Amino acid sequence: MDNFQTVVDQLADLPSTPVVVQKLHMLIQDDAVGSRDVARIVETDSALVARVLKLVNSPFYGMTQSVLSVEDAIAILGFNTLHQLVLSTAVFDTLAVDNSTLNMAAFWQHSFGVGVFAKHLSSNANKDSQSEALTGGILHDIGRLVIAKCDPSKFVTFYFKRKSVTGIEQEMEFFERDHQQIGEMLARKWNFPAPITAVISNHHTPSAAPDEYKKLVAAVNIADLLCHMMQVGYSATSYVTEFDPEAWRCLGLSMDKLKDRIHAALNEIDKASQMLESL
Ligand SMILES: [Fe+2]
Ligand SMILES: [Fe+2]
Repeated sequence: MDNFQTVVDQLADLPSTPVVVQKLHMLIQDDAVGSRDVARIVETDSALVARVLKLVNSPFYGMTQSVLSVEDAIAILGFNTLHQLVLSTAVFDTLAVDNSTLNMAAFWQHSFGVGVFAKHLSSNANKDSQSEALTGGILHDIGRLVIAKCDPSKFVTFYFKRKSVTGIEQEMEFFERDHQQIGEMLARKWNFPAPITAVISNHHTPSAAPDEYKKLVAAVNIADLLCHMMQVGYSATSYVTEFDPEAWRCLGLSMDKLKDRIHAALNEIDKASQMLESL
């Protein structure tokens, strides 16, 4: 009980949602809101603007000309994608830990890789769903980062000093909660969009996801499996959930299509390598 209680107590002390994310969240609920209003909020945080523009201008987004303002970024990407981009950037900024606790670059590569794979596995879906798959993938393992931030020494003991398996069952034994549940606590505290919260809470247990998000969660679950198999980045453990035939069926992909999607995802990750180094 003590182990888990420590993490939860410290979770309460985690920085609350950055003001810009809070304001953006409220603003985006309002149908009457325009690009100028959203841009004005984002522009209150100049470091964030610099990072968002860097991302938008990276080869990942394949722009033919430079995007110089947040308003232009919104016009090109849409509100939802910009919101998710700001959220992911803010989460990784707030939860960054020392490299002696966790290799952040490798963790980011795993997270981003899962996002890109999930997006390609969802490429039959509309743009909004693809953008949710990308963000859901980027944020899926955020619970591990919360543990690393709240209690670095327990994190290192569990993931790097123990010889036994570091799966979700073992996390339950050690922390009394697994990283899905701990990630969900942060998602609720920060008011993440519901589909992203569903991914964080169920990416190792896709059949437990609410029906409306089953396909999205399945995409992230399979993407996670693929990134582990292909060693895209590293998320503190080589543990993977067993292949779930139901999640695979949910995606509705043939083997031939899967090959194409893997190829496209790997290409995109390659294109984005410059961005991965600089985030
Ligand atoms: Fe995970
Ligand atoms: Fe993962």
